Amino acid sequence: MENIKVMIPEERLLARVRELAEQITEDYAGCELKLICILKGSVFFTTELAKRINLPIKLDFMSVSSYGDDTESSGRVRIVKDIDESIRGHHVLVVEDIVDSGRTLSFLLELLQSRQPASLALCTLLDKPSRRVTDVQVQYTGFEIPDEFVVGFGLDYAQKYRALPYIGILSITDDDVEG
Ligand code: IMP
Ligand code: MG
Repeated sequence: MENIKVMIPEERLLARVRELAEQITEDYAGCELKLICILKGSVFFTTELAKRINLPIKLDFMSVSSYGDDTESSGRVRIVKDIDESIRGHHVLVVEDIVDSGRTLSFLLELLQSRQPASLALCTLLDKPSRRVTDVQVQYTGFEIPDEFVVGFGLDYAQKYRALPYIGILSITDDDVEG
């Protein structure tokens, strides 16, 4: 049986998103900002964030899949969908749902950097620093969380639970243990 326990309720998520948006608005004052939303997990976070940033915003989307098993990304990343427009000379903020090992992001940031943006930074809703195996510079973090598997607010388990309005800890127990 899959059970979900609330870790970060919706009000806390949205309050933190507002703080991040205010910080970003201040840091990029006078600039146009391009948000790159990494599908599918960061869709919910990106829209909430974009609505609260008080700057001219452009949005683009990228979808990547990492080779490896379900729980460990290998670091070899395949681009499933690339962004539509050039980022050369643009201020770019990559928006992610969660940084875990950091393998996906370090590949992605290196690739985007090679395309010569005016600036490149990373904003993640969640960070599990204890799981990091590569060095990734994160400029904006919503919440640091312990090493638990979480779902909701865009994050999935086998494509389920993305639309939950909160972040919850998923636990899976054996069905047949009794009655
Ligand atoms: P990394 O390359 O190991 O940093 O992988 C990050 C990706 O793994 C995220 O974009 C998520 O898709 C996935 N991921 C890592 N931890 C979780 C979790 O707790 N819940 C849901 N997905 C996760
Ligand atoms: Mg993801």
